[in-house]
Amino acid sequence: MVHTTANRGHHPLSVAPWPYGRRPGGRLPLFAFACWLAALLCLPAAQAEDGHDLWLRHAPVESGAAGDYRARLVQLVAPEATATQRVARDELLRGLGGLLGASPAVSNAPDRDGALILGTPASSPRIAKLGLDLDGLGAEGYLIRSLSVDGHTATVVAANSDVGALYGAFHLLRLLQTRQPIDALDLRTSPKVALRVLNHWDNLDRHVERGYAGQSIWDWHRLPDWLDPRYTDYARANASIGINGTVLNNVNANAQILTPAYLEKVEALAGVMRPYGIRVYLSARFSAPMEIGGLKTADPKDAAVQRWWRAKADEIYAKIPDFGGFLVKANSEGQPGPQDFGRSHADGANMLADAVAPHGGIVMWRAFVYSDEEPDDRAKQAYTEFVPHDGEFRDNVLVQVKNGAIDFQPREPFHPLFGAMPKTPLMMEFQITKEYLGFATHLVYLGPMWEEVLRADTYAKGEGSTVAKVVDGSLEADEPGRSRLSGMAGVANIGSDRDWSGSHFDQANWYAYGRLAWDPYLDARDIAAEWVRMTFSNDPAFVDPVVGMMMASHQAAVDYMTPLGLHHLMGRGHHYGPAPWVEGGPRADWTSVYFHRATKEGIGFDRTKTGSDAVSQYAPPVAEVFNDPARVPEDFLLWFHHRGWTDRVSSGRTLWDELVHRYSRGVAEVQEMRATWDGLADHVDPERHHQVARFLAIQQKEAQWWRDASIAYFQTFSGLPLPEGEAAPLHSLDYYKSLEFPNAPGDGR
Ligand code: GCU
Repeated sequence: MVHTTANRGHHPLSVAPWPYGRRPGGRLPLFAFACWLAALLCLPAAQAEDGHDLWLRHAPVESGAAGDYRARLVQLVAPEATATQRVARDELLRGLGGLLGASPAVSNAPDRDGALILGTPASSPRIAKLGLDLDGLGAEGYLIRSLSVDGHTATVVAANSDVGALYGAFHLLRLLQTRQPIDALDLRTSPKVALRVLNHWDNLDRHVERGYAGQSIWDWHRLPDWLDPRYTDYARANASIGINGTVLNNVNANAQILTPAYLEKVEALAGVMRPYGIRVYLSARFSAPMEIGGLKTADPKDAAVQRWWRAKADEIYAKIPDFGGFLVKANSEGQPGPQDFGRSHADGANMLADAVAPHGGIVMWRAFVYSDEEPDDRAKQAYTEFVPHDGEFRDNVLVQVKNGAIDFQPREPFHPLFGAMPKTPLMMEFQITKEYLGFATHLVYLGPMWEEVLRADTYAKGEGSTVAKVVDGSLEADEPGRSRLSGMAGVANIGSDRDWSGSHFDQANWYAYGRLAWDPYLDARDIAAEWVRMTFSNDPAFVDPVVGMMMASHQAAVDYMTPLGLHHLMGRGHHYGPAPWVEGGPRADWTSVYFHRATKEGIGFDRTKTGSDAVSQYAPPVAEVFNDPARVPEDFLLWFHHRGWTDRVSSGRTLWDELVHRYSRGVAEVQEMRATWDGLADHVDPERHHQVARFLAIQQKEAQWWRDASIAYFQTFSGLPLPEGEAAPLHSLDYYKSLEFPNAPGDGR
């Protein structure tokens, strides 16, 4: 990637003193100026470790290991007839050049030991001749094998398509980046999920809804004529982890994106993405036929509306033959949808599906719906609305379901829709951007949270019916007439910040999302270790403690924000910081008090059979467990139960004491993360070490704030003293309530 220090540094929330002398823009002291001049004249330009390279940082391998690798990678035999082939070849030359100090020699045929042979039977005569077993790898899978070819030792990366070979090339680089042996390779892999898609909640004015990494990377104003090199870097990064689709605009969509002027810009972006195997998709505003088409209605049963969408699809596909299709947020949070015309979600989705079907397009129809006219528990509404339509959706529709039934809370039980719509492919929607998990400053690795959801057992078809099997389609593969589509969506945390994600450690969440979309059975810890090695260092003295920090970080955030199954207690609108006191306003289920239901007697949302009965939306074995306060996992206790302040929990503490204990435990964990990181300064370049250290300081301050504000507030209900040894909140409840953040980033607009 391009190395420049141009945009380095100053995060808006940074509390840090600038550690490198005077801030850029200030006047340099004479000595510093002399040093700077000397450095400029005498030394090669130093590369700033600003995080821009992500996990594609191909820093030189230590001399011992490099020798072994070099002997195996002397020469590269790779086709270059297509754009994707050239990209794969260039990635290998660039990556190996960085890792090994010199790129392998390019050759048409292996004529010495140490050949790296890349391609498909169609692109490479050598690979065609090898007669490898490529069956079962599908269009995107690949194999990597150590073989003897024409009497020479060789490493073969083979696939059925150019994109498969590109994925294989990135995998080979990853083996080196993580210092794996490559002398006896025999691995094959193909994606378990077909559509691996990023959702950008990016507006056309470059504001990113729930974005904490600067502006949108899509520079709509300068497109299509200016193609920022970042687009290519973005495509490389995504291809390296197997992401094969991107929805460019916000689900709260602006119909303008479907006008000719914008489609020209979309076409230009699609051209950048194409060689990397990435299709572009658009969020479609359901009322677009009225807003930009001049029609009086957007009723999906209206013939003129259907014609309008078909013509729009034809227009898009004429420009972008591999256009992916539409993502739709309909009849949710004020967005228009088929229900405005008395039609169902299936009617709306199918109408769009029919428009894109002739071109091979798909529709991702979101199940994130809830209505304020509906007095029922918000957690139940998506299930209630969608389950009756199972079996009604066209083959090219996926219903996209958030991991939990409320809204990306720090921890949620898996969404009851998983397993409940066997005839419909359900696409998982994870949120990579940390709207409810400390924005970009808190170090919270989301791998364990996603793993927890994917491994959760729905019991839809008996024990072992995990969410991962619903998402990859394997659980319901025999369901008559079920479409073979499968997908995973991740709400992107990518922005114009130099480090892409607003912090170094948030890059790990982008990475982990891609890896889990490829294979939802992967282990979050293994992914973390892989990422740390590629991004920072392979030294076990660094890798082990950092992976430990990452693995503990999600539970820590849950503890200091919303322990024991509490949820939705953040600031109104911007969602920054604690605000369990939020009440009133336009709708009850946008308040905190709706969700925690604290009284003098107790706290928690009663979703048992005698409460809102949300538990009954789960399969009976799961419902029974969730319904029983003695058996429900304690992490979900107050999600499903209203409990008395002095009820005992498994630790033997009262509920009140346990709550306080968990808040404090979360803060203590962050303190420990800081101490661990401080001790690792020798293993990291000063720039990245410094930023992570300062962000951890912010996190500690804010964790304390969450603890103190929450305890001060809930104590007004429990009326109980803090347990022995627990410090009182630093400030009064009134102080916490008085805090306002009108300019917090990422607001919805
Ligand atoms: C959350 C988020 C919104 C977003 C919505 C959605 O409510 O705060 O900004 O639009 O989810 O997923 O559609």
